[in-house]
Amino acid sequence: MIKLPGLIDPHVHLREPGATHKEDFDSGTSAALAGGITMVLAMPNTKPPIFDADTLDLALNAAKQKARCDYGQFVGAGPDNASMAASLADKAAGLKMYLDSTFGELRLDDMTLWQPHFEKYPKKYPIVAHSESRSMAAAILFSAIYDHPVHIAHISLREEVLLIKAAKEKGLKVTCEVGPHHLFMTSSSPSGRGQSEGRMEVRPRLATQKDVDALWENLDVIDCFATDHAPHTVAEKDSATPPPGFPGLETILPLLLTAVSEGKLTLDQVIEKMYTNPKKIFNLPDQPETWVEVDENAVYEIKAEEQFTRCGWTPFEGWQVKGKVRKVVLRGKTAFEDGKILVEAGYGKNIRE
Ligand code: NCD
Ligand code: ZN
Repeated sequence: MIKLPGLIDPHVHLREPGATHKEDFDSGTSAALAGGITMVLAMPNTKPPIFDADTLDLALNAAKQKARCDYGQFVGAGPDNASMAASLADKAAGLKMYLDSTFGELRLDDMTLWQPHFEKYPKKYPIVAHSESRSMAAAILFSAIYDHPVHIAHISLREEVLLIKAAKEKGLKVTCEVGPHHLFMTSSSPSGRGQSEGRMEVRPRLATQKDVDALWENLDVIDCFATDHAPHTVAEKDSATPPPGFPGLETILPLLLTAVSEGKLTLDQVIEKMYTNPKKIFNLPDQPETWVEVDENAVYEIKAEEQFTRCGWTPFEGWQVKGKVRKVVLRGKTAFEDGKILVEAGYGKNIRE
């Protein structure tokens, strides 16, 4: 049995408000606990999006009643809410900027819309950018011009990890995360396992083997592993217009522990990228008396039917993994043990209170 700190996932979509048929604070934070994650930072591309005081309250009130692990809520950068977003900074996990197209309506195309956010958002919190390829380079330039830390969400490409490496060598305030699907899958790997095309839709798209290799070769450049848990139902994924996104909260740790058992990664790197670094980057509080117990020798198959996420599927269906979460203790209480959630809805705390 190994003992890990309560892990932190700085990038999850819990779909509340507005799409609780996909997930809500209850099912999503239950999935987190089952995955060994005791703190989640929720993204703002909900319905309505979280972009002002009222919508932030909507999300935080739902979370207060329903969350079972600790949580923070991002505010989204819109075309005209820079002052409002900055005024909410101490209540929010951080500011999320969508600079490339993805699921939801938050997106900033014109770079003049980025400027007020970089000017106004308090520097003690990073601006998280969904920015791929060249827009990632632009986000890093903004970070340099405004001397504002930027955290690049879900990097997936060789060119991205290499540019971030160069930016870090220059001393720029850039950090980044990578999702498990971009570490363990390529654009050609899924078809063999009989999942529909729609199931494999995700942003950023799955990349090439060369890209995946570059991520593994540059693990020291990657600050965090973050799931980008983006649940959509089976019916939605198998429809004619499949929305992009993969669930990931319950599979990230077993996948990483399997990689540890194969010698691709160390346990210290898992702790650094799922606890130490996200805590520092996002200015997150301690969780006293909190830990995760893992049976590192348990070998089993990933099955959607055993998951707490409401979405009903996983892109890793049938994968054999080694390493199972047995028990999660959160602030002195056993929150998960042997497949069962043991804390009530509402036990989770807002990390900014
Ligand atoms: C996310 C979603 O569904 O909210 N989808 C995805 O493919 N990652 C949006 C996002 O994070 O870009
Ligand atoms: Zn996301």
